[in-house]
Amino acid sequence: MHQLESLFANNRAWARDAVSRDPDFFRRLCDQQSPRYLWIGCADSRVPANEIVGLLPGELFVHRNVANLVVHTDLNCLSVLQFAVDVLRVEQVIVCGHYGCGGIEAAALGRSQGLIDNWLRHVAAVQTRYQSQLENPGAVGSLPDRLCELNVLEQALHVCQTTIVQDAWRRSQPLWIHGVVYSLQDGLLRDLGFEVSGSLEAVPRFERAVMAVGRERRT
Ligand code: CO
Repeated sequence: MHQLESLFANNRAWARDAVSRDPDFFRRLCDQQSPRYLWIGCADSRVPANEIVGLLPGELFVHRNVANLVVHTDLNCLSVLQFAVDVLRVEQVIVCGHYGCGGIEAAALGRSQGLIDNWLRHVAAVQTRYQSQLENPGAVGSLPDRLCELNVLEQALHVCQTTIVQDAWRRSQPLWIHGVVYSLQDGLLRDLGFEVSGSLEAVPRFERAVMAVGRERRT
């Protein structure tokens, strides 16, 4: 038996269903893609980008990796960002983390899982940077949840700092960068108060959003 038999069956049913709802669906997608959004999220199987925000194929450009990191020298992520901004001309870039993230928890607890520890050093570095804020006993929310939020904010700021985004803003291209977090518990997105559309506002917004972590309940 083919190991992927059930997936092929699902796929045929999905394609049939898509055409029955919209006979031109695939023909239109073949012509071109013109998504308005770039999603940078975690690779976690419980956080399917399109489904969460109710967007169809063609509407969301997606980059995912463990713990939704934007590393300054990661050519993979930077290439996705550059293509999305310069070629597709997306207007909204969303960095989305999620509570209960295995990558965040492994970094927070110093749990070793092999090679991936090296990747998650980037999260551990965020933890070190905000150690006193994270250890504040009066803070709202668990430490991993707050680290998850701080990590999203750091990565969203990294997006703002790329030459790609800086150049786009310099030529007055409309481009917003957002930091949000998804909850596995209720399926809802929380806004982290980071919405930036220009170079000068990035750091002040970032600092304000960082200050709010652990101060308010995310509902
Ligand atoms: Co995750």
